[in-house]
Amino acid sequence: MFNDVGRTVFKDLNKLSFDYVPDKLVFRDAQMRRLFTLFRVILDSNISQNAFLTGGIGTGKTALSKRFCIDFQGLAHKKSKNLEYALVNCRHRTTEASVLLKILAHFDPRFPDRGFSITEMLEILRKHLEKRKTHLIIVLDEADVLIKKSGSNLIYNFSRFDEEKITGKSSISLILISQKNVLDLLDLSALSTFKRTNVIRFGKYTRDELHGIIEQRVALAFFPDTVESDVMDLISDIASEWGDSRYAIELLEKAGMLADEVKFDRVTAEQVRGAKAEIYSTVTESKLADLDLHKKLLLLAIARRLRDRAYATTGEVEKSYGVVCEEYEEKQYGHTQLWDNIKELNILGLIGAKKSGKGFAGKTTLISIPDIPTNVLEEKIIELIKK
Ligand SMILES: Nc1ncnc2c1ncn2[C@@H]1O[C@H](COP(=O)(O)OP(=O)(O)OP(=O)(O)O)[C@@H](O)[C@H]1O
Ligand SMILES: [Mg+2]
Repeated sequence: MFNDVGRTVFKDLNKLSFDYVPDKLVFRDAQMRRLFTLFRVILDSNISQNAFLTGGIGTGKTALSKRFCIDFQGLAHKKSKNLEYALVNCRHRTTEASVLLKILAHFDPRFPDRGFSITEMLEILRKHLEKRKTHLIIVLDEADVLIKKSGSNLIYNFSRFDEEKITGKSSISLILISQKNVLDLLDLSALSTFKRTNVIRFGKYTRDELHGIIEQRVALAFFPDTVESDVMDLISDIASEWGDSRYAIELLEKAGMLADEVKFDRVTAEQVRGAKAEIYSTVTESKLADLDLHKKLLLLAIARRLRDRAYATTGEVEKSYGVVCEEYEEKQYGHTQLWDNIKELNILGLIGAKKSGKGFAGKTTLISIPDIPTNVLEEKIIELIKK
């Protein structure tokens, strides 16, 4: 069971990093094919194209866009066409200027990070494309953040990039990625240039799909026979609650590290449980941060209500929510909206909800908080609301 000092279960830890893009994304053939079909017109007819990829956390949007760009570029080169791509994460780059700088850096790594206006930078980009006679696919990942912060001007500019050209090839195509529907956030002029039907959806991964994803990573990253098969089962079970592949891969990585730490020569279910406990807090934190104010208030109300017990009824939660709203001087949401929010918190796995059994008058839903002490949760939410 125990291995020597310095020995490890990992053959190649890099294969578990979030930047690593596997040669093949399992269970995403349909999305990949659709994207290829849509974008073929770039190669066949020199027309530009756009697409919008949407789906929940860890459903493979970013990974698929990267894989697509690499493979599509390969196809273009086979057909002797110039094609390049630039990936921009708009959570890190929330202004038009910083997005453009990232794209220009692709052509000129020493491009100065100040001194040029947006219009000038767009012109410089145009010159680069003309000089290289190339088509550029721009991927705006987490585009909702850019649009919320800086509007949809830049997207408009990109999608109208070739308008003044009378002849010749189109030069820019766009892929927008977001968990939320960004098309609703675009203003009308930008929306008019965007083909609304080019939406590609990414559903949550099922347990079996997560199992497949984990199997692939085990083969890539671990030495043979260092991961017990029930480890893969357990990870898929845990992650299927969210349908989130990132969480599954993180569990696998952490579990492997824990095995190394205790000098086991293989990963067992015990390490998966340990990994879950470690990751839980960070995943929860990012989910909490994404909640809107009223969901935060609601969760705070639930945490307080559950301080000294396991379950609260929806009626009790509603009362407690009223008190919290008063405290924060916020208008309380109505019953229906509140119920929707409870459902959403439940889907996110931040609360548990089950129908009451015996011992309660009538049927009601019982709310609980899984896996996290209420005082810890309360503290976290209060901190987030303050921000
Ligand atoms: N179908 C798949 N096959 C293999 N690996 C996958 C697959 N889908 C996702 N992954 C891996 O899971 C991790 C998370 O995927 P990704 O970052 O693409 O999710 P996302 O949809 O962009 O999530 P978010 O909305 O949170 O940004 C990455 O490491 C990615 O390589
Ligand atoms: Mg992503």
